[in-house]
Amino acid sequence: MLDKAAKQEILDEIAAQVRGCTRCPLHRSRSNAVPGEGNPDADVMFIGEAPGHYEDQQGRPFVGNAGQLLDRLLGIAGLGRSDVFIANILKCRPPKNRDPGPDERAACSEYLDAQIATIQPLAICLLGRVPLQTLLEPGGSITRLHGKPQEKDGMLWVPLFHPAAALHRADYMPQLEEDMANLKQILDSRLE
Ligand code: URA
Repeated sequence: MLDKAAKQEILDEIAAQVRGCTRCPLHRSRSNAVPGEGNPDADVMFIGEAPGHYEDQQGRPFVGNAGQLLDRLLGIAGLGRSDVFIANILKCRPPKNRDPGPDERAACSEYLDAQIATIQPLAICLLGRVPLQTLLEPGGSITRLHGKPQEKDGMLWVPLFHPAAALHRADYMPQLEEDMANLKQILDSRLE
């Protein structure tokens, strides 16, 4: 088991590789790569889809409107940004925020896999359809699977609606809040 400083060192090295990455064409249109950030010893990771405009500008995940909502949702689960690690399936912004392509996901997956293997969280929250289908269930429906945790590879995988979806669809918000409250219960019972 690596200690926190050793994990931070590995995560810093992964982030440096991501910032210099040219494995797919998205490196040409990015302003900044967004490696992900947070607590190297996090019990929970949150994985989104890909950086948007503000994330691309700042090089940090979830800093726009969806990020502000994510901060509030973390509070419902009794968490703050300093407790968790936040990353995305893609480390670079797709033009016009289109869905990540299969070649882009394949080119980027090694970085996220290495982050997960380094942090070894208890739980991984999948924000929306893209991380759900990429990491847990190809073709899976987030509407059907949100809030239903599954065990895989010794971790708990928790599909959740994407915060940006809840900003557009008012009926998703209470479901997302309820799923975050349930996440708190799950974490409390696992960390007892
Ligand atoms: N949406 C995402 O999926 N990821 C971000 O970092 C920001 C918005």
